[in-house]
Amino acid sequence: MSADQTAAGTAAVPSGVRIGPLRAGERITLTDPKGRRHSVLLAEGGTFHTTKGGVSHDELIGGPEGVVVTSVGGTAFLAMRPLLNEFTVTMPRGAAVVYPKDAAQILMACDVFPGARVVEAGAGSGALTCSLLRAVGPTGRVRSYERRDDFAAQARRNVESFFAGPHPSWDLTVGDLVESLEAESTPQEVDRAILDMLAPWECVDALAERLVPGGVLLAYVATTTQLARMVETLRVHGGFTEPEATETLLRAWHAEGLAVRPRHDMVGHTGFLVGARRMAPGFRAPARKRRPAPGAYGEDYNGPRAATPEGAAERG
Ligand SMILES: C[S@@+](CC[C@H](N)C(=O)[O-])C[C@H]1O[C@@H](n2cnc3c(N)ncnc32)[C@H](O)[C@@H]1O
Repeated sequence: MSADQTAAGTAAVPSGVRIGPLRAGERITLTDPKGRRHSVLLAEGGTFHTTKGGVSHDELIGGPEGVVVTSVGGTAFLAMRPLLNEFTVTMPRGAAVVYPKDAAQILMACDVFPGARVVEAGAGSGALTCSLLRAVGPTGRVRSYERRDDFAAQARRNVESFFAGPHPSWDLTVGDLVESLEAESTPQEVDRAILDMLAPWECVDALAERLVPGGVLLAYVATTTQLARMVETLRVHGGFTEPEATETLLRAWHAEGLAVRPRHDMVGHTGFLVGARRMAPGFRAPARKRRPAPGAYGEDYNGPRAATPEGAAERG
């Protein structure tokens, strides 16, 4: 099996998982005794330089991962191929990436399935793209849109580096999402749409026209003001179920003898997920029974307003 082949499939359907001996051209992670990780691109004759002396790449090439190599100065390094979650946080990036904990939630919240037709924007550095491509499998399609050509080029480099070449289920378009969708000669159906951009609410109408009934639209946003605007835009549209907003906190633990406690270095905040499902054409979700909190849509509120009985009551 060649380096381009994967543990789970054939060269035609890459999973990004490499097996067998380490090869020149592969990226590996060297972890030092303090747990610091160093991403290294293996090259014949190459050296990984550290303050404790160099590690020769040739010691690793041709051997298995999971070995320990020692620098000239006597420091031991654990050598492993990175998992997808490590790859996405260590790969070169232009735009900020979706963190692995959020990518995992996105796959579950959107129920991304083998065969799904997924639209994603912006592609940014291609981190989420890698997870989406894995989830849709050989019969699915991921269409990614990125309006900055430098970021799109970086996304392509990262995706092709992870999958060891072009992925057959991926289309990357350089351009604004809405403009690109509107330029399609025939609108293509979409099962799942995932937005990671500054103003996802601007894409709701265009995606609503293409999402199948029951399809999922999800936005990953960094701030509460974006979260609120997205929720209200989905409500105002009327063709979506009541939006759900969540945040995922991941806390690693230190476990050593009797010293068992949360680690101090938690990632405090990454982003919020705002998701809703597409209703069938002509249907609106049943009006919510719950009245908005007092003042929710009071005179200080200046966002989109849904024409609901609750909203009307609140607005007087
Ligand atoms: C935070 S980055 C996306 C990161 C990406 N999800 C990842 O995991 O690597 C946001 C990207 O959205 C792009 N963008 C913003 N608005 C866009 C739009 N309307 N259409 C296409 N791309 C857009 C920006 O150029 C930027 O690269």
